[in-house]
Amino acid sequence: MRLLVTGGAGFIGAVTVRRLCEAGHEPIVLDDLSAGHREAVAGMELVVGDFGERALLRDLLGSKKIDAVVHFAASSLVGESVQRPGEYYRNNLERSLALLDVLRERGVMRLVLSSTAAVYGEPVVIPMDEEHPTRPTNPYGETKLALEKALRWYHAAYGFASVSLRYFNAAGASADGSLGEVHDPETHLVPNVLRAALTDDPVPVFGTDYATHDGTAVRDYVHVEDLADGHVRALESLERMGGASVLNLGNGAGFSVLQVIEAARRITGKPIPIRKASRRPGDPESLVASSGRARREIGWTPRFPGLESILETAWRFARTHPHGYRS
Ligand code: UFG
Repeated sequence: MRLLVTGGAGFIGAVTVRRLCEAGHEPIVLDDLSAGHREAVAGMELVVGDFGERALLRDLLGSKKIDAVVHFAASSLVGESVQRPGEYYRNNLERSLALLDVLRERGVMRLVLSSTAAVYGEPVVIPMDEEHPTRPTNPYGETKLALEKALRWYHAAYGFASVSLRYFNAAGASADGSLGEVHDPETHLVPNVLRAALTDDPVPVFGTDYATHDGTAVRDYVHVEDLADGHVRALESLERMGGASVLNLGNGAGFSVLQVIEAARRITGKPIPIRKASRRPGDPESLVASSGRARREIGWTPRFPGLESILETAWRFARTHPHGYRS
């Protein structure tokens, strides 16, 4: 399939773009490079621009026949979304609706959406399947949930087919060590812990008073290569599945912040000092997936389900790219 991949130069996007090529698809990356990296899509077709700009989209879709869209581009930081909600509604909802309008106008009726476990909010039961109540605790989760709902109505009204992939905590790096997580500023736990391993600066632990076994927040870390595989499978199943589906992608195992740091100490052989800090606004206590539906519907089976393999690949990338893609 010929694909438009918005945000394809970002962390999960770039690993997925590579996987899509390996599976015989032809991705065209649309990325404004505000968070993505040109180096991560070297050799790929890249259009630098705004995915919500109608004129650009009309040009692009007019000049190339596109079969489907994989929509990664978004603002995706939980804490930042609490500070700057308007930006999140504009970037994640308003611009995505502009994209959907132009897609419909041009007859491109298939889309895979990057959604998130942040749509669930505080856990009612663990693990969470797709029927778990959706009560986001931050604007990031709210905007993704609103977009998922819009996709449901677009299916009802126009037959628009979509799969929203609710990923849990993406981490790790590509198996060959060349693509990894590079954000500025970096807010995510795994790269921050590994940077602390390199620099010996303490890593902040946000919240030590959660009702979890050690007081720190619990997350389900899922390898970026497994997420990439989930996108290829979802895309290839879109026609068969039809409708507007939602699928969790996670391993079903929760690790606390302190457990991640402990595992990173073992893998890196470094002391990794910590600094206790207060909770980060908008952070739920625990997010752990039940991904049975993805296994059944698209045959998704993680190849790197262990925290060790996630940390090992991320560590290899962190060591070889201490200054991001510029090193
Ligand atoms: N944390 C720390 N210290 C840090 C960074 C993070 O203690 O330096 C804590 C956070 O407070 C949180 C946990 O580690 O409790 C995980 O935080 P991340 O920033 O790595 O990830 P989030 O859970 O906030 O969010 C990520 C993605 C979202 C996605 C969510 C789904 O960034 O896009 O996972 O679970 F919605």
